[in-house]
Amino acid sequence: MKTTAKVAGGYKVSARGILNNFAIEPEIYIEDPSGIRGKTALITGASRGIGRAITLEFAKQGIARLLLVARDSKRLKQVAEEAIRGNPELEVIPLVLDLTETEAVNSAIAEVWQNHGPIHILVNNAGVAHQSPFLSSETHQFQQEINVNLLGTYAITRAIARRMVERQEGTIINVSSLMGKLAAPTMATYSATKFALLGFTQALRAELAPYKVRVVALLPSLTETDMVRDKQLFGLVLPATPEQVAQELVAGLRNGSTEILVGWQGKMAAIANRFFPWLTEAIVRVLTPESNSHATENPTLIVGCRV
Ligand SMILES: NC(=O)c1ccc[n+]([C@@H]2O[C@H](COP(=O)([O-])OP(=O)(O)OC[C@H]3O[C@@H](n4cnc5c(N)ncnc54)[C@H](OP(=O)(O)O)[C@@H]3O)[C@@H](O)[C@H]2O)c1
Repeated sequence: MKTTAKVAGGYKVSARGILNNFAIEPEIYIEDPSGIRGKTALITGASRGIGRAITLEFAKQGIARLLLVARDSKRLKQVAEEAIRGNPELEVIPLVLDLTETEAVNSAIAEVWQNHGPIHILVNNAGVAHQSPFLSSETHQFQQEINVNLLGTYAITRAIARRMVERQEGTIINVSSLMGKLAAPTMATYSATKFALLGFTQALRAELAPYKVRVVALLPSLTETDMVRDKQLFGLVLPATPEQVAQELVAGLRNGSTEILVGWQGKMAAIANRFFPWLTEAIVRVLTPESNSHATENPTLIVGCRV
């Protein structure tokens, strides 16, 4: 007798060995709960840091095709080669794109959709961060944070989400930050963009649910990447590795989480902030690096600030 239970989109787990003694040879198909195996994902900011780690983790999890977006073609190619070494079946297409160039983004998405088929998973990971007291921040720096972190994310999401809606299938992952829950002094614009991404995620989740498009947020806390190398770090915060962030993302997708926090410190901080916001605000103030905590190093800038 042969029993077969099959769940669409699943992969096969054979229980043959265990049940041979009972003369039953079932083939059980269980769904990949993370929704990664056999799918196509587009990952922005894939050339380094967290985006690179998500690329390699998705390759390990059996994704079929990866579209990798960033501006640095050499680094993208290196990451593509690394991903293929981890999964020789994988197809990788590097897309050299600046997310702030909306027209280029729209035509690139139209072209890849036509040539390589549908994108099932979009990971909006690309981001930039600048650190300085707000009153002495440079206009071009906070504009870049808004342009990349928010407007760049909107542009590529619109191009892909409308196609996902037509197919009634897809997952969108927006990489926010713990700073999207708990704003940090000296990172005002960065925090503002990350709070905004959580609002964007929540609204989109409700709008796209009827079309079977899932929208989730990933909220890493401090992670060892290029982004934080030149920053004055907040005291007592233990950095995660990009690999840990990628693994927690996959675990969160598997569990059906809508907001995926990373590391015990991140989880504790988010819970504490929800119930005792006055306490977390006080703690963040104490942990702010001394040399960066003043409104401006040059008092004259308060009057004639460069914003
Ligand atoms: N590191 C942390 O502590 C931390 C904590 C919480 C959240 N996050 C978030 O995690 C995400 C990844 O951060 P990370 O730490 O991995 O940063 P990272 O190492 O600095 O990498 C940033 C990525 O974004 C890409 N990028 C930047 N501007 C772009 C543009 N205009 N168009 C296309 N791609 C662009 C970069 O590629 P190119 O330069 O090649 O274009 C790079 O691949 C960000 O959204 C960040 O806010 C990071």
